[in-house]
Amino acid sequence: RVGVVTDWSALIRDIPDYPKPGILFKDITPLLADHAAFTQVVDELADGLVFDKVVGIEARGFILAAPVAYRSGAGFVPVRKAGKLPAATLEASYDLEYGSATIEVHADAFAPGERVLIVDDVLATGGTAEATVELVRRAGAEVTAVSFLMELSFLSGRDRLPGLEVRALLSV
Ligand code: PRP
Ligand code: MG
Repeated sequence: RVGVVTDWSALIRDIPDYPKPGILFKDITPLLADHAAFTQVVDELADGLVFDKVVGIEARGFILAAPVAYRSGAGFVPVRKAGKLPAATLEASYDLEYGSATIEVHADAFAPGERVLIVDDVLATGGTAEATVELVRRAGAEVTAVSFLMELSFLSGRDRLPGLEVRALLSV
């Protein structure tokens, strides 16, 4: 471990009116650029959890999930937006504010019963994470926990992940 950073949350920057008017965007790039802060959050996403594989959700989830896998001696599995994975896939769709989105995982990504930690940057409405949990289960693995850097608690996304250990390092 690198030295403890007392308040890495100060490295998440508010960007008003992005990507559209009225939205306050939480920009984690200053945190990612700070080695001590980045290392600390990667450790905290996984600390105390037991798992065989880490699933990262495209795109921002990849940034956090891959170092979690490396640090933990676990394999990494990408959940990607539709059409990006080359082999046979399972797919799940979820609603967006307007329309819907589809994500995929390789059908053979897991051995039966493997324990999986799902990692993403933000838990907002929970639609992305709920669809990812469904994919992991349909692929024959078991979700151990779902870890986020940040939770937008006013959107109650955790209600869509019942019975699961849901970890958010920061709640706003
Ligand atoms: C953002 C964020 C989460 C998701 C959370 O990803 O990175 O993955 O939204 O929202 P939800 O809880 O309401 O589903 P986005 O789809 O914007 O794509 P990106 O990660 O590729 O930037
Ligand atoms: Mg995302």
